[in-house]
Amino acid sequence: MQQVVALQVNGQQVSVQGESGQSLLDLLRNTLHLKATRLGCGQGQCGACRVLLDGHAVAACETPVWAVEGKSVTTLEGLGSRSAPHALQTAFIEEQAMQCGFCTSGILMSAAALLQKNPHPTRQEIVQAIDGHLCRCGAHNRVVRAIEKAAARLAAA
Ligand code: FES
Ligand code: FES
Repeated sequence: MQQVVALQVNGQQVSVQGESGQSLLDLLRNTLHLKATRLGCGQGQCGACRVLLDGHAVAACETPVWAVEGKSVTTLEGLGSRSAPHALQTAFIEEQAMQCGFCTSGILMSAAALLQKNPHPTRQEIVQAIDGHLCRCGAHNRVVRAIEKAAARLAAA
């Protein structure tokens, strides 16, 4: 069954035709053509599809379209841009906090949710925030360093 869903995506109000049973991930990637959000496991286990839903990091693959009616979604495209990158994006590049990069957009969104709630996280809190993200490339230490760096810069700004 089809239904019209009204929501805010990256600050823009959108009204889209969704299918019952459709996931937010499918809506973002295939209806709105926002491809930064990745499909990994499709089962809420890998973190590749994390986006912000009203400021909370959620797995878009497990979030049904009907649950986002009237809500605000932020994807990596809404975090920053090439010309105006978010402090996290700058720090990830500087620290080379990725290898293949497949998991990186989800990690960035979890890190953004963390820093919004807790601008001065401890190393342990950073590790906890990204614990649910699978990354086979072994960039974990660099990721933690990049988040620490971004937190310090945002706090000093
Ligand atoms: Fe959603 Fe893996 S694709 S958690
Ligand atoms: Fe390759 Fe994380 S950077 S899986």
